[in-house]
Amino acid sequence: MAVGQLTFPKKILAEVDVERKVVLLRTDYNVPIKAGKVTGDHRIYASLPTLRKLIERKAKVVVISHLGRPHGAIDPALSLKPVAKVLADYLGQPVSFVSDCVGDKVRLAVKKMSVGEVLLLENLRFHAGEEADDADFARQLVKSSGARVFVQDAYGTVHRKHASTAAITDFLPSVAGPLVVEEWLKIQNVVQNPNRPLVSVLGGAKIADKLPLLEKLIKLSDKVILGGAVANNFLMAEGFSVGASLWDTEVDELVNKIIVQVRAKFGSVWKQKFILPVDVAISKNGNPDGARHVVTRGDVKPNNAIFDIGTKSINRATEAVKSAGTVIWNGTLGLSDKLNYAYGSSRLALTLADNPQIYSLICGGDTVDMVRKWDVLNGGSFSYLSTGGGAALTQIAGQKLPGIESLLS
Ligand code: 3PG
Repeated sequence: MAVGQLTFPKKILAEVDVERKVVLLRTDYNVPIKAGKVTGDHRIYASLPTLRKLIERKAKVVVISHLGRPHGAIDPALSLKPVAKVLADYLGQPVSFVSDCVGDKVRLAVKKMSVGEVLLLENLRFHAGEEADDADFARQLVKSSGARVFVQDAYGTVHRKHASTAAITDFLPSVAGPLVVEEWLKIQNVVQNPNRPLVSVLGGAKIADKLPLLEKLIKLSDKVILGGAVANNFLMAEGFSVGASLWDTEVDELVNKIIVQVRAKFGSVWKQKFILPVDVAISKNGNPDGARHVVTRGDVKPNNAIFDIGTKSINRATEAVKSAGTVIWNGTLGLSDKLNYAYGSSRLALTLADNPQIYSLICGGDTVDMVRKWDVLNGGSFSYLSTGGGAALTQIAGQKLPGIESLLS
């Protein structure tokens, strides 16, 4: 597959024989689950074309994924079991589930599989070997499943160097799945040929993960808007208190470096080009189920937690976006699953949907689930929805993606 002049640099699923073979398919089913139910399924939905292709090509499909960050411990709240039900409903065929991803249970379940069947294994991160990129764990994944081909289709995870994105490729012929190919090409095309002005919007909570990538995003962008917890460390650097809000204790140096960078790039108008919240929506006692109160950014009290950007900031952000040729948006601007704190993200999404002349690239599981939830066109109001948050930012920053680098050329 190619987009414009771009060609995907690695071997792809269409180039390998999978008929009657066990295929180990790495997906990113890191989806929100509450009380045993999937509450945002874009990543599952995005994996369906690949699954349907493998079923059609008569493979036996063994699906692996991570969910959350259990760091090697078993956490029932992070079981992938609820995903099997959603998958079965979408595919219109049963999807079996095994409560581990290695060992005899897996061996037995795979033995019973016929061609065209799908089996989902339990959360890879219940084993410490996954995040450690451990060769023995990767070997066990291959041996237990009896797989003959590995298909990397977890675009959202290709920035991680883990056993199921790196070590495993030493033990099986490994190729890219259609979702990885499509996402990589779409994002690369935006990076290389953006319609200008390019406005980047960065929010969400993974502050330490995102800030190192912000430097490249600033280089690429004509304007940057910050919201979510990511904005809090910058508000602190500007001398404002963020009370009981989420912030990161380790990133001061980086924040100062970024401020020097934006001053150098944008000069005296840097505050109009690097847009921080001027007001914020807080919960007075820090409870995310509490009422929404909008205060100016100098008025956050020690018990207050910032959960969204405020009214003036929403207007500034939507105005900045309206004149854009391209918008890259990763990370919600507030707690978008709480009605009281979803104002900023909803208004931004609405602005993008109302302005189809803007090329809108929306990245990350939570952000995409949020915009899809209320969109009558089920995501169709936006130019491209990427399953990758950190992965998309890493690609945009021009850094290595171990999950793609390790595949066959
Ligand atoms: C994501 O949600 O960005 C991916 O699934 C990767 O998850 P991680 O940040 O926990 O590695």
